[in-house]
Amino acid sequence: MIHPRVVHHMNMPIPPLKVQSSAADRERGEGAGGLPIVSMRGIRKAFGGYQAVDNINLEIFPGDFVAILGPSGCGKTTLLRMIGGFLQPDEGVIEIDGVDVTRQGPAQRPTNTVFQGYGLFPHMSVRQNIGYGLKIAGRPKSEIERIVDLNLGLVRMTEFAGRNIRELSGGQQQRVALARALAMRPKVLLLDESLAALDLKLRQQMQSELRAIHQEIGGTFVFVTHDQGEAFSLANKVAVMNKGRVEQFASPHEIYHRPKTSFVATFVGEANVFRCRRDNGVIALTQDAVFHDPGPNGDITIMVRPENMTPSRGGSPDTRGISVKARAVDKSFQGSFTKLSFIDEGGREIDVNLGGDADLAGIEIGEFVTLSWQSDSMIVFDE
Ligand SMILES: Nc1ncnc2c1ncn2[C@@H]1O[C@H](COP(=O)(O)OP(=O)(O)OP(=O)(O)O)[C@@H](O)[C@H]1O
Ligand SMILES: [Mg+2]
Repeated sequence: MIHPRVVHHMNMPIPPLKVQSSAADRERGEGAGGLPIVSMRGIRKAFGGYQAVDNINLEIFPGDFVAILGPSGCGKTTLLRMIGGFLQPDEGVIEIDGVDVTRQGPAQRPTNTVFQGYGLFPHMSVRQNIGYGLKIAGRPKSEIERIVDLNLGLVRMTEFAGRNIRELSGGQQQRVALARALAMRPKVLLLDESLAALDLKLRQQMQSELRAIHQEIGGTFVFVTHDQGEAFSLANKVAVMNKGRVEQFASPHEIYHRPKTSFVATFVGEANVFRCRRDNGVIALTQDAVFHDPGPNGDITIMVRPENMTPSRGGSPDTRGISVKARAVDKSFQGSFTKLSFIDEGGREIDVNLGGDADLAGIEIGEFVTLSWQSDSMIVFDE
């Protein structure tokens, strides 16, 4: 979908755009130091006639903290349940630590899952919940005590050890569920929207604790979320899912700056999207913003992040880039930045984020300005 191209704007030659490189591919193997801990090949799962997961190929390496990110219903939980062994794929192979576990149940796999609803035993104390798996595994009592204490400390619940589950808040129950899964020291810890029910403050606190726990105990974490901020703040690799497929699997940086598809570009972060056409290698964004871009004829999508656009009064565009004329329609102060909204000649809404205070922009609502951006901050999708 992405291809090398040379852009000319108003007949001014400019340097070629950066090609969508294979940095993602390189990064995928970076620091892996050998074999994947989880390997999925050609995984498919349908419910009735509905293809919930559609041909997923994913390799997760030891020590990775992977986020599975996507909108509601895109198949995240279904995929996680197949990794955990709670659901069997219709097709494909899942290997964990080199072993084909496709037809194995959850108990046979070196995984542990923290479900969205916590799944704690309500009639047991916090301590009993955390020690339950170890007890079933037949570990000696003294060892269980030691491991439970350790994990209570990890999730900062030591003082609640004797409490009944019913006497805990949602956030505290979440910590117990996490400690219970951690107590088994799974090779792969699976988390499904584990922080979604918490309020913002507590969620941020738990995020930094999860990061710290991951660093402290190592192991591989895979967690499902529909929250981009959460995915980016926790994971070293993000799998962006859409309609049962993984559209991109790469570092947060790569996903944000080099999205592979227009879905990834718009789902992750803010994006200005221009739908237009390419005819004989020419794209006419507006009458004036015309540039050369080799590729097939047809509909295309252009994406530019709001922070990469510069409004200028008086209309002296940066000739090394692309520019359009637009009218300011809204201005809102967002704290660390100011968002300016414009409507361009084609009636398209364009947002521009400027660092600092609104007054610095000096732009009045209703005013016509020139919006320009460097051509290498623009991504063209053939879709
Ligand atoms: N047991 C089931 N029977 C029938 N359909 C199912 C079942 N489980 C999931 N689905 C369907 O498969 C699709 C993917 O569901 P899944 O739970 O994996 O989505 P999700 O990405 O986790 O969404 P959310 O963010 O809302 O939790 C949905 O359309 C859902 O309705
Ligand atoms: Mg889900």
